[in-house]
Amino acid sequence: MTSDIIKAIDRLRQQRQALILAHNYQRGEIQDIADFVGDSLELSRQAAATDARVIVFCGVHFMAETAKILSPDKTVLLPDLHAGCPMADMITPEQLAAEKAKHPGAQVVCYVNSSAAVKALCDVCCTSANAIKVVEAMAPDRPVIFVPDQYLGHYAQEKTGRELILWPGYCPTHMKITVEQIVALKAQHPGVEVVVHPECRPDVVQAADQALSTGGILRYARSYQGQTLIVGTETGILHRLAKENPGKTFIPVNDKAVCPNMKRITLEKVLASLESMRHPIEVPEDIRQKALASVERMLAL
Ligand code: 13P
Ligand code: SF4
Repeated sequence: MTSDIIKAIDRLRQQRQALILAHNYQRGEIQDIADFVGDSLELSRQAAATDARVIVFCGVHFMAETAKILSPDKTVLLPDLHAGCPMADMITPEQLAAEKAKHPGAQVVCYVNSSAAVKALCDVCCTSANAIKVVEAMAPDRPVIFVPDQYLGHYAQEKTGRELILWPGYCPTHMKITVEQIVALKAQHPGVEVVVHPECRPDVVQAADQALSTGGILRYARSYQGQTLIVGTETGILHRLAKENPGKTFIPVNDKAVCPNMKRITLEKVLASLESMRHPIEVPEDIRQKALASVERMLAL
């Protein structure tokens, strides 16, 4: 029974001195048992600050890896090792090294949705919450390569007026959100605002009132004066939106925009991970040191 699984998780969480972190796209029941739920940047900050001995990361592989980069002495567990991010897999360290060789002197900004080995080859990381700030902080007299998300890169380019060399990666889940869906919903709900994630295609971002990180969408919804908000991102965010805003209605632009990797984490797998301490994330020390420099430069901004 679910309540028995939750009791067992709670008992082991105490025994193991574990912190359970969950991304805003996790299943509702995972968000409900987590010690902290947040966007990529907020979760990185939690991982860096915690005294817990064990971090159970309910999210995807690059997120758990970032926690390990920041907290090498802690055990970081990913309850399902197959919870990856297809966008992060769209660039390898070899491909990035070749791209850097094509643009001598270029600085590299990498979205945290990337492997530790890719982060190790970058100058600074960013998340969707701080991409604009990070791009603005780059030396103005040198070119900037932005990897792997072409759409977040395009968004940062538009907002900063800075020309970026974009890598052609994208999020398959956010590609399911289209302008046609937004136009149809706006026609059905006149006067209602639309907020989307900057991983959406540029025409979708253009059609929306705001493009924000998942944490930004949650903050925006809390202060939003209207009754109904149209939301263009992965549907896991609807759980927290509803919980934090009783009385407001949130309409997904596409209720099929579901990240299958995020949904791999279940209560059963969280329990199994605490029981048998699986699956510990490891990052080779030389790569970790270099990747840490990129993550720390971001956190310092
Ligand atoms: P946030 O940093 O906005 O939470 O986004 C992470 C992510 O994977 C979006 O697809
Ligand atoms: Fe990766 Fe997209 Fe899933 Fe985020 S929603 S983890 S970018 S595949």
